[in-house]
Amino acid sequence: MSVTAVSTPNIALIKYWGNRNNDLRLPMADSLSITLNQPTVQIIVDRAERFTARTFEPDGTERTLTEKERARLEKHFTLTKTYLDVLGLAKAFPGSVSLEIRSKIPRAIGIASSAAIFSCLAKAYAGLVGENRSFTMQEKSVIGRLGSGSAARSLAGGFVALHAGTGNDIDSAAAEQIADENHWNLFDVIIIPSAEEKKVGSTEGHTLAHTSPLFSKRIDTIPRRQQECIDAILKKDFEKLQHVTEEDALDMHNVMQTQTPPLKYLSNETYRMMEEVEELRDTEHLEVLYTMDAGPTVHLICTEAALPKIRAYAKEQKGCTLFEAGVGNGSHLLD
Ligand code: PMV
Repeated sequence: MSVTAVSTPNIALIKYWGNRNNDLRLPMADSLSITLNQPTVQIIVDRAERFTARTFEPDGTERTLTEKERARLEKHFTLTKTYLDVLGLAKAFPGSVSLEIRSKIPRAIGIASSAAIFSCLAKAYAGLVGENRSFTMQEKSVIGRLGSGSAARSLAGGFVALHAGTGNDIDSAAAEQIADENHWNLFDVIIIPSAEEKKVGSTEGHTLAHTSPLFSKRIDTIPRRQQECIDAILKKDFEKLQHVTEEDALDMHNVMQTQTPPLKYLSNETYRMMEEVEELRDTEHLEVLYTMDAGPTVHLICTEAALPKIRAYAKEQKGCTLFEAGVGNGSHLLD
């Protein structure tokens, strides 16, 4: 019997950058994100003789996976088995699987699909074993994290923290929901200045974070920021959320830009929009904040009251692709 799961990306407010164990994707520090309600990824997992993976684009056409992509999916399957062995569940898991990945994430929108894909796989793998035993959100988040650190956070809806933990045990870092999807009606207006594929992805970037002279200070500062961010969310204090989110995004990009080799993900367009949004926020008294991941894409997170003006601002951006999402309910199984 096959299992079908659906999941979505998330946008980090406190960013995950750098691992203490690259193989197991154990992060150096905590992170926190909002799970988005779209775009979705759907994956059908079935028991199979040998590992196979097929992927389909939003228009339904099949895309051949690169060898690197295929190897990452297979490694994730192997790591999942290792973790299930720790849980005493290895026997309930198939020797191999076939995957059918149907992504609704347009390639041009510059949102990393890895968080959606690996959280979706985690949900589906847990579903395969699930006839024998149900999994906690923390356990599912560990499976997601083994494929992509940020994927751990998309297993739950709403506002989700990934606790870094300590040590090298496979389950020493797991996610926890801070507040659910009905807690605070925020929006993410996404402006993509360029659809260029990035040269260095985050998997590789994480492994070199420690070469930045700013990295250890960042790691020391994150516990304070993580707590401020949690407080801001629980109190729905947008101004506090804005300060800590922007501070953390800029700090992560300073680390990226000073690591060896430097990773310069932000473009002139990104910097221009950041300045304009600051001005717009001040003159119009809008509840809006900006944040950027490993690319030039600008995420404008705003309240419902600010949404019409932020949408209008986004539409003014020439040559950019736009996308909009609300707060989502995380990954789930389809019947
Ligand atoms: O999960 P990864 O390996 O794709 O890393 C995600 C890194 C950032 O998007 C830059 C930050 C984050 O916490 O999502």
